[in-house]
Amino acid sequence: MRTAQRIDNLPPYLFAEIDRKKAILTEQGIDVISLGIGDPDTATPDHIVQAMIEATKNPANHQYPSYVGSPRYRAACSEWMKRRFDVEVDSTTEMLALIGSKEGIAHLFTAFVDPGEYTLVPGAGYPVYYTGGVMVGGETWWMPMTEENGFLADFESTPPEVLAKAKMMFLSYPNNPTSAIANDEYFDRAIAFAKQHDLLIVHDNAYSEIGFDGYVASSFLQRPGAKDVAIELFSCSKAYNMTGWRVAFACGNAQAIKALGTVKSNIDSGVFTAVQDAAIEALLGPQDSVAELNAMYQRRRDLVLDALDKIGIEVPFKPVATIYVWAKVPEGYTSASFAAKILEEAHVIVAAGSAYGPSGEGYIRISLTTPDDRLEAAIERIKNSL
Ligand SMILES: Cc1ncc(COP(=O)(O)O)c(C=O)c1O
Repeated sequence: MRTAQRIDNLPPYLFAEIDRKKAILTEQGIDVISLGIGDPDTATPDHIVQAMIEATKNPANHQYPSYVGSPRYRAACSEWMKRRFDVEVDSTTEMLALIGSKEGIAHLFTAFVDPGEYTLVPGAGYPVYYTGGVMVGGETWWMPMTEENGFLADFESTPPEVLAKAKMMFLSYPNNPTSAIANDEYFDRAIAFAKQHDLLIVHDNAYSEIGFDGYVASSFLQRPGAKDVAIELFSCSKAYNMTGWRVAFACGNAQAIKALGTVKSNIDSGVFTAVQDAAIEALLGPQDSVAELNAMYQRRRDLVLDALDKIGIEVPFKPVATIYVWAKVPEGYTSASFAAKILEEAHVIVAAGSAYGPSGEGYIRISLTTPDDRLEAAIERIKNSL
């Protein structure tokens, strides 16, 4: 049996690889603490679960869902965009339900990138911005992200020969894995750049709801002219502790939404309508859980920063968003060798920064989605292994 070359060209999916290593150690009876994947450890809020229970009793929800999302779900997403960001989005032409934003990211490549064409990808970013390109025979241009430039992906240094063959650019702030945030001026420059070079901007706002110390993330679509060149992705995964439910949405530029919808209608059959009903409750129901989650992550962030400081591991800046702490690897290690050492000697999983792209080299990512006592135990173990 011969598989397609595109499969051979893929690196192992980061978190599948982490799961594999964890399973090997766990089988040996070793207690592994995972600070690898960002998967909320607390439950989906009860009012959302209750909405789902009710929704599953409706026989209409047992049939194939709408490809683009139910009119009620899309209207609720538009209403949320209005309430949360004061952004107007037409729920019929500028809104599309996604089976999680990962699915949307992957399918955007089929909609926009022909073989040999480039996608501009943050130097450290969510892995699917890269693997999605591999899947369609596309090329990746890694936009440098450095501590000096505040981990803002430097699109302006992209060479003209790459730009001539570039179709799409991913940005994502608040950022995974660095936790950096962007300001309006950066977004405005990106819009002007995309107009100049005829690019679609995909702004991945997966962490829009997670902010600390009073920080509240904005929407890319708030910026003037954004809808001319951009779509934005939102997800219920991190905002409402719904990673397992698989529900998100894309909104913005109508032409791009239509193209993505065309791909999806030929490949998948939409989000289970009962899940869409539950997501409506998440988006338009009580929002107290968001503040509660943020208080919890802020406490964990402080705990981790304090503990890292005590053991001499540097962080480039204090994060005010996302569920990650981005820390420097000590002198003499690479991201991968330090992550491997911690796994072998401390039985703690952290994500090697280099797995997110070339700008991630020299860093590790620590996820805050682990109970406080386990986080403390993990840092203690790391300390003992240094
Ligand atoms: C930046 C970013 N985008 C997208 C996703 C995918 O989220 P989901 O498919 O659960 O909506 C993640 C998940 O960690 C992420 O970090």
